[in-house]
Amino acid sequence: MPEIQKLLDNNKRWAEITQKEDPEFFSKLAQQQTPIYLWIGCSDSRVPANQIVDLLPGDVFVHRNVANMVIHTDFNCMSVLQYALDVLQVKHIIVCGHYGCGGVQAALENTSLGLIDNWLLHIKDIAKSHEKELAELNEHERINRLCELNVLEQARNVRQTSVFQDAMKRNQDVKLHSFIYSLKNGRITVLERDE
Ligand code: CO
Repeated sequence: MPEIQKLLDNNKRWAEITQKEDPEFFSKLAQQQTPIYLWIGCSDSRVPANQIVDLLPGDVFVHRNVANMVIHTDFNCMSVLQYALDVLQVKHIIVCGHYGCGGVQAALENTSLGLIDNWLLHIKDIAKSHEKELAELNEHERINRLCELNVLEQARNVRQTSVFQDAMKRNQDVKLHSFIYSLKNGRITVLERDE
């Protein structure tokens, strides 16, 4: 299994270099995590949270799923959000989508991919509610605009959750940000953010 051995070799080298650069790095992190960011992003292998914003282990609490969705009945995502707000007390929640998202594209096409079709129904709903705007665009623009609309919708979903509303009621200092990432140049654009 050379593919897996490669990972283990990489890990050994990385741990050695990291330890060499900062002998306290692992011992400090092992005691506790104090990230100030919660990142909700897409599972796409080309959009790794820490790497694209150049943050170290310990700096960002991460939840990723196909098409960076925040669904109120998704116990996994809701638990991450609750833990981030109540326990870690993160200062920023970032929903980051990306242009050319395969999940968004699949939702626009009527091809069946299996179980995931059900997950993507949520994006079909967003497309439906912006039908007019999307119909005026060409296919490429339509996918990318829906990627943006999806991020904005998911950020709204974060805001509507009971855990976020409770945090607001107790005047917790937390801001919500909607980001979109370009696979073409590695740059993030801010679509919307709390001031
Ligand atoms: Co994606």
